[in-house]
Amino acid sequence: SAVLNDLAVRAGLKYFGTALGESAVSSDATYASIVSDNTEFGQLVPENGMKWESTERTQGVFTFASGDISANQAKKNGQGLRCHTLVWHSQLPSWVSSATWTVDALTAVMEAHITNVMGHYKGQCYSWDVVNEAVGDDGNWRSSVFLTTFNGTDYIPLAFNLAKAADPDTKLYFNDYNLEYNGAKTDRAVELVKLVQAAGAPIDGVGFQGHLIVGSTPGRSSIATALQRFTALGVEVAFTELDIRHGSLPAPASAYVTQGDDYANVVGGCLDTPNCIGVTVWGFTDKYSWIPGTFSGQGDALLYDADFNRKAAWTSVSSVL
Ligand code: XIL
Repeated sequence: SAVLNDLAVRAGLKYFGTALGESAVSSDATYASIVSDNTEFGQLVPENGMKWESTERTQGVFTFASGDISANQAKKNGQGLRCHTLVWHSQLPSWVSSATWTVDALTAVMEAHITNVMGHYKGQCYSWDVVNEAVGDDGNWRSSVFLTTFNGTDYIPLAFNLAKAADPDTKLYFNDYNLEYNGAKTDRAVELVKLVQAAGAPIDGVGFQGHLIVGSTPGRSSIATALQRFTALGVEVAFTELDIRHGSLPAPASAYVTQGDDYANVVGGCLDTPNCIGVTVWGFTDKYSWIPGTFSGQGDALLYDADFNRKAAWTSVSSVL
């Protein structure tokens, strides 16, 4: 019986992938066996292990043990790897976020970080999320130590140029959430791609995180429209962190059917978009998901329930593929 990655590849995508939870994989044998099945998940992305606070918690001291968990699993299981993430305001150690920098000093910090981390994983990453969440929810540029120090967006093309120098063969992505709604945030993300291109810096892809809500997920054609605003600029797109949560729990049985329809619309919108190259879910089982810890009272956002049974959403994704 063919499963998600096999079906996705047959449908013309490069992969169907999942985030790998670094602690779940070492503590839960059922989790470990499903995440290792390359017919179900053809690509992995570390949920936390490659973030700045994991890889350079102390300036100049690089640690790759957590990021290597995903890289080694992918290698062992014959799976691809997305790498996540380099320049992000969150999970950024306070030695970066709380200091006052000159442009030159922060440039040197970014260069050391990008060069060391990408250098360690060189040749292993299908893509890298070079810049994550640079747009605010209101469509203004998101405030961060980077935006403040550079007094604007120059840090963005700089990050892409540094990434290209560190690993010329990986695809360089901008990644963000709420791009699915075609609102002010989507507009600003389109502007981001254009400004990187206008600066002569390389950008290969835009990741739609896809942290969505059951019953308020856009329809298939709206999703395709949003994706195609980016592919029109010559970059590829992908869903990179898909989960569709119930806005309040417990949810009625009918909401689990709606959740399946929402998942099908997202995957379908990708299938309808030439150059939408893959879908990655942000975990696969409701046993381990970041949602309840971040959005209180919400959850059950993934394709498998907490007992590792495939949900209606799994069946719905498998049928649309
Ligand atoms: C989340 C992880 O899932 C959590 O374990 C962690 O505590 C916080 O970050 N956007 C991103 C991801 O780009 O890296 C985030 O992952 C979810 C939102």
